[in-house]
Amino acid sequence: MNISGTVRAWAPGRVNLIGEHTDYTGGLVLPMAIHLGTAIEGTVLDGRIRLVSDDQAEPLDVTLPIGDASTITPAWGRYVAGVAADLGAEAGIDGRVSSDLPAGAGLSSSAALEVAAALVLGVGDDRGLVEVAQVAQRAEQAATGVPCGIMDQLASACGRVGHALRIDCSTLEITPIEMGDDVRVVVIHSGQERRLADSAYAERRAQCEAAEAIVGPLRSATVPMLDAIADPVVRRRAHHVISENARVDEFALALAAGDAAAAGQAMLASHRSLRDDFDVSTTVLDELVEHLAATDGVHGARLTGAGFGGCVVALCRPDVDPTPSSLRGWIVRPSRGAFVG
Ligand code: GLA
Repeated sequence: MNISGTVRAWAPGRVNLIGEHTDYTGGLVLPMAIHLGTAIEGTVLDGRIRLVSDDQAEPLDVTLPIGDASTITPAWGRYVAGVAADLGAEAGIDGRVSSDLPAGAGLSSSAALEVAAALVLGVGDDRGLVEVAQVAQRAEQAATGVPCGIMDQLASACGRVGHALRIDCSTLEITPIEMGDDVRVVVIHSGQERRLADSAYAERRAQCEAAEAIVGPLRSATVPMLDAIADPVVRRRAHHVISENARVDEFALALAAGDAAAAGQAMLASHRSLRDDFDVSTTVLDELVEHLAATDGVHGARLTGAGFGGCVVALCRPDVDPTPSSLRGWIVRPSRGAFVG
């Protein structure tokens, strides 16, 4: 438990470069923590959390311990409350949340808030960063009811300057992958807000589980094994996951070999698979990816995050920003992970 004083923590957002809708099947993902993030700073307050946020009108003011985080108001405070509930926190904080991470843009602002909260509320506990990410993942699930995987929270907690992270979600082993100066990552918001994402996400996860009930863990399944699945939709979902796991390593090998063009091709193949097999793309996202793929200096692009709208990520030449003038985009740099202080 905390005993006194000022506490401060910062956690970054993330962009997923490749490995989409694989984390909750113990698959491979390759996200990158970015230089934009969220800080929480304050003083220890016994039995209560009182936080104002630079971006939100309403403060969070709750008494500890917290039971059900999903009913807390204002809604942004549910992520913090979920962390407090998971930690069984009795010591809270009186302070401020500040962020340069755009909310709702697909850069995991909620994961950054959860990870920062887990660090300030868990100060003094000797939890490792992977455990911090696990606390944050459970908090997200409790706050939203969405059965999300661990990618966003783990990327935020464990980011490495100048690197993306290849994460094996079955062992949580993290391998840093160097992002050289010869590539630039640009995230572009499609202008389409994510819709139906929560219910469709849970449905996709259930379809992957249905496939696993027939062929075993998708992580070790092979494409020929999918013939045993009668339902064509479930079969396509499983096909996406198996092929996406392979693309993560293709991408990592291409980057290591300095072959940005091949890495870009893996991203484009990932997008097609998310569109055709996993059905989480939209016409707006497809058109944006096609436009980017035809843009000089763009190696590849794909939807990033859960899909159904939101952002596209592009791998570009370092002098290129392909963001169309009508859309919001961010040139993002590979950042360190969360820290206290
Ligand atoms: C969301 C979830 C992640 C992951 C992605 C899809 O971002 O929070 O756990 O499942 O969708 O890859």
